[in-house]
Amino acid sequence: MLNGERKTPRPLRWAMVGGGRLGQVGYKHRCGALRDNTAFALVAGAFDIVPERGREFGVNLGVDADRCYDDYRTLFAQEAQREDGIEVVSVATPNGTHYQITRAALLAGLHVICEKPLFFTSREAYEIKALAAEKNRIVGVTYGFSGHPLLLQMRAMIANGQIGEVRMVDLQYTHGFNATDEVDRLSDAQKWRIDPQISGPSFVLGDISTHTYYLSQLVMPQMQISELLCDRQSFIPSRAPLEDNALVMMRYANGAVGRMWASSVNAGAMSSQRIHIVGSKASLEWTDVNPSELSYQVQGQPNQTLYRGMPYLDETCNAWERLGALHTEGLTESWANIYLKFALAIDACNRGDRQALDQLVYPDIDAGIDGVRWIENCVRSADQGARWVAFE
Ligand code: NAI
Repeated sequence: MLNGERKTPRPLRWAMVGGGRLGQVGYKHRCGALRDNTAFALVAGAFDIVPERGREFGVNLGVDADRCYDDYRTLFAQEAQREDGIEVVSVATPNGTHYQITRAALLAGLHVICEKPLFFTSREAYEIKALAAEKNRIVGVTYGFSGHPLLLQMRAMIANGQIGEVRMVDLQYTHGFNATDEVDRLSDAQKWRIDPQISGPSFVLGDISTHTYYLSQLVMPQMQISELLCDRQSFIPSRAPLEDNALVMMRYANGAVGRMWASSVNAGAMSSQRIHIVGSKASLEWTDVNPSELSYQVQGQPNQTLYRGMPYLDETCNAWERLGALHTEGLTESWANIYLKFALAIDACNRGDRQALDQLVYPDIDAGIDGVRWIENCVRSADQGARWVAFE
């Protein structure tokens, strides 16, 4: 169980690019990184595409005015001149900027924590992986839901054979906020999401299904997709060629089958993400709207609900417990857990502790690459008229 006590020698000197006053995801990063006050210290940033607004915002967050920079290039260059310069940067900007900012950060010798979808192409992602290895730096990816402890319970139960052989994988991340085109006109954050120049080759596949795809890999790392078929639509025609709805069918190497529904036009839906794994003996189901409960359904037996924080859970799950059973945890604790993992990964990397790094389960560069590959394969299938394609 975690109690805020430090796990690394000292807080890492941390900066943000993006995540400014009007940004949607920036506060989630700060909630995660600063939760324990022992892993990260926010000391600098280029928080906003509008420099004055970013500077004012940074000062209001408690950052020194002379360390609130106009842009990321100045941030990296100026901080490199300081003895107490930043060691790690988080990138919380629109998708189309991730590659260039991450590359510049690694070249400046920084560890990087970047938003999903990581980049537009797997070629870029492999190039960044090689650069990170050359510079001996980590690249983490903020799959923000993946810190919920019960996902590690799922992982342990599937690995222990408690559901038998995996047969069916049922994944869903849907919401209805884009059911009409009104939000496309009103929200800046939505405008760039449907612009291929900034969003990349997909909308909902990259925006939301990459989260759920990573969760599926987290809970069943042994499962590999061999083929998939993706059908994607733009129910609001002006969003074409980017999709606001996608249905994907998967075939796995072990003979299992799966499906993913990603949608931002699931009108009226307020529950978002669901992961349901069916094995030969039993099933497990978890949703992010009720993250403290895991449904375990054994064929022929009464259904069970496993509760977060209880001693009967696997130790790999309870190691990431914070508040204890009965006391509600949510998305901020999940983000705090993944940020703590990033801190542990950076510390292990700095110490050259390869063993610790290899044992740490966290959304690393490979998880980011896999998310990009997932999008690429889905788009390739959809653009061939929803045909089965080999997962490359
Ligand atoms: P947004 O449009 O709401 O905010 C973007 C922020 O970045 C703004 O503060 C903007 O001023 C700033 N910005 C843009 N370009 C910049 C630049 N070159 N330098 C410095 N600042 C810059 O976007 P939102 O929704 O916050 O998404 C940002 C990223 O986070 C996207 O990649 C998105 O996919 C991802 N995201 C991830 C979530 C998660 O749960 N992990 C949730 C929401 C978004």
